Amino acid sequence: MSETENLCDIIIFGGHGDLAFRKLMPALYHLFNDGYLNHQSRILTVTRREMSNDEHIALVESKMHEFLKKGEFDEARFADFAKKMQVVKVDLADEGSYQSLKEMLDLHPERERVNYLSTAPDFFGAICKALKHWELITPQSRVVLEKPIGRDLESSRAINIEVLNYFNESQVYRIDHYLGKDTVQNIMALRFSNRIFMPLWDASNIDHVQITVAESVGVEGRWGYYDDYGAMRDMIQNHLLQLLCLVAMEPPCSLDADSVRDEKVKVLRSLRPMTATDIEQKTVRAQYTHGSSHGESVPGYKEGVGVENSNTETFAAIRVDIDNWRWNGVPFYIRSGKRMRERNSEIIIRFKSIPYSIFANKGRCISQNTLVISLQPNESIKLKLMNKIPGLTEQMRLQQVDLELNAPLNAERKPEAYERLMLDVIRSNPTLFMRLDEVEAAWKWADVILEGWEDNIVPMKSYSAGSDGPSAAIAMIERDGRSWHDEL
Ligand code: BG6
Repeated sequence: MSETENLCDIIIFGGHGDLAFRKLMPALYHLFNDGYLNHQSRILTVTRREMSNDEHIALVESKMHEFLKKGEFDEARFADFAKKMQVVKVDLADEGSYQSLKEMLDLHPERERVNYLSTAPDFFGAICKALKHWELITPQSRVVLEKPIGRDLESSRAINIEVLNYFNESQVYRIDHYLGKDTVQNIMALRFSNRIFMPLWDASNIDHVQITVAESVGVEGRWGYYDDYGAMRDMIQNHLLQLLCLVAMEPPCSLDADSVRDEKVKVLRSLRPMTATDIEQKTVRAQYTHGSSHGESVPGYKEGVGVENSNTETFAAIRVDIDNWRWNGVPFYIRSGKRMRERNSEIIIRFKSIPYSIFANKGRCISQNTLVISLQPNESIKLKLMNKIPGLTEQMRLQQVDLELNAPLNAERKPEAYERLMLDVIRSNPTLFMRLDEVEAAWKWADVILEGWEDNIVPMKSYSAGSDGPSAAIAMIERDGRSWHDEL
């Protein structure tokens, strides 16, 4: 336990929801164990259900067994952690019912407050309004917003305006949990602490970039939400565009929140808006049909949702062009899908070919240098280089080999994204959270594609569950004379 970390009360709205059990409470438990929670900080779980504190603790304990990794649960540590936990019954839509929360928070009126809104966005406005009504918002209060923040620019704006009626922009922390992943932060370390990449990182040297986030899982009981959103809103508009920003942005003048976010927003504003012809030629949307995943037969998306005519895409692939000096003429191919062959998230930076080969190399071509940043399930960074095959052959023979950057063996336990992000909120550091202008710029670009899809400019394709996605995505990149990294 720490006496130096910020003393604050952490209030989790939607505290008995899936995210809270699966991610937030385990993250807080790890922070507590690793000494990153102030010993007096409290964790207040707001729920509609009537239950005693002991029942709440027992429920959280059972969920910890379910969601912590093997060997991470320690009974004595949990008993200590549980002393911080309190449950409060509030009906989120009923302002009067917040009185019990007020009484609890007023025990320590001087404390900083982290209000974590892990609820459907429909409640964001009502919660903030009630907090204001009961005078529970202080200048040191923060509010954390979970996605989805809207399903297009207009609805996202409406939600943000509601929240900003009660909190300042500097108090609002919009989560994109991909930014909390260690390897994702490492993209900045790699780019901005290694000189060798500096002169290479542009259109003169890079042929194209690929960003893939493939999941083998399906929608996992989140049909109600997912069917209204789909891959574009669920993954591309946020996680994949954020990864693209980290690869494409200019070096920020410092690591402070606004310097980093200023550079990211410039990238988002440089994304070339799509015309109808672009949507037809440079985007693919698809839905999975019956297939098999890891040897087990799985139903198609529609059968799973139980909606016969669902037109929701579970896969999207897009060629993105960035209109600025650094990236002119360098396509970024991004794709994401559910129920793919395997879980695999990676960023591929493919460098241009050498101008001329002096090696005969027995018909084998000289492969382009490639930087492979693997994010999931295994984290690694590999630079693919050409190298001589040892031997006395008359003509020199070459092969491609990997130069691999491994995390130091003595690295601490890799924290989960939510640990990093929760700690940053506690410390009032918004660098890894999305600023309003970032969210809006991303929606502005995505909306055009979504509208084109709505108008059926490009038909919905299908792919079998457990496959590599629709052939249209392969055709899309092949039309440009390139191929997806995993098909090489
Ligand atoms: C969430 C999406 O934001 O990210 C989910 O809503 C998706 O649909 C998840 O499964 C993927 O996150 P991760 O960290 O498992 O890659």
